[in-house]
Amino acid sequence: MSTILTGVKPTGMPHVGNFVGAIRPALKLAATEGVDSLLFVADYHALINVQNPDELRQMTYEVAATWLALGLDPEKTVFYRQSDVSEVFELNWILSCFTEKGLMNRAHAYKARSDENQQKGRSPDEGISMGLYGYPVLMAADIVLYDADKVPVGADQLQHLEIARDIVQRINHNYGKEVLKTPEAMIQKETATIPGLDGRKMSKSYQNTIPLFLESKKLRKLIMKIKTDSSPPEAPKNPDESDVFGLYSHFATPEEVDALRVRYQTGIGWGEAKQALYEVIERSVEKPREKYLSLMADTDQIEAVLVEGAERAREIAQGVLRRVREAIGARS
Ligand code: TRP
Repeated sequence: MSTILTGVKPTGMPHVGNFVGAIRPALKLAATEGVDSLLFVADYHALINVQNPDELRQMTYEVAATWLALGLDPEKTVFYRQSDVSEVFELNWILSCFTEKGLMNRAHAYKARSDENQQKGRSPDEGISMGLYGYPVLMAADIVLYDADKVPVGADQLQHLEIARDIVQRINHNYGKEVLKTPEAMIQKETATIPGLDGRKMSKSYQNTIPLFLESKKLRKLIMKIKTDSSPPEAPKNPDESDVFGLYSHFATPEEVDALRVRYQTGIGWGEAKQALYEVIERSVEKPREKYLSLMADTDQIEAVLVEGAERAREIAQGVLRRVREAIGARS
């Protein structure tokens, strides 16, 4: 049995690009027979930026409701909130004692901020908390606390996985045995190809996203805004150069994709192509949206799932922590 674990930072309602690129593949993986899967909401990582209690709570519920609405099965996957498993913070300290400060200096999130400070003539540490600085250590603790074998992440997280492996190896080397499992990154396929409304990669920072659970009419309106060229309806169009077609192919069946391809070649109006796109997206989000709204209308339901998940998570965590405490010479 291999253990797959991943954490998701609560960052508000996900968009179509998050769904196609990260959520859908992770759900598929979590549902695979023969793997133990854990998924958690990294609310204490979010605390670095989100320091308003209502906002943190709301964002945590939003991300949890999203995954549940999209079909995460909390019976199969251990689904919990990071801050409910306090064992992780004890392990965080232990790991930090084996983490070279220089390793943290090179971590990209920290480095980007400190470089920016320097460019702007500010003191290099301005606005940088120990939380941001130690982010990779907590992430390593998140992973090794559950003996995770594989961690599905985007390419931007690869450095964090390398750091986790480095810390684990130092510990194992120091104690001369496998105290902790060395995790491996599972890099998700390049999904930078999911275009946003303006043709650039779909991303919150470009403000070109299609939010996943937008109300149906608004969803349609937004899809109609996708940038296209000004060729007339009857002109043949190249499906492989069309963002509308590209998005369509992530939601339609292979037969539907083939059929739309033919329509492009014989000439299709952009309005009609967008309508087809709207219909396939609406078809896949209709039920999850309903579920999402009902969960958000009664967050006690979400709370119950997370609390139960945390109980299962703590059982695993306590076993691993006992092993670590024993190995380092604390009371086990
Ligand atoms: N750093 C990850 C991100 O920004 C979130 C995360 C926190 C995570 N802890 C983790 C991912 C552990 C995988 C494993 O996306």
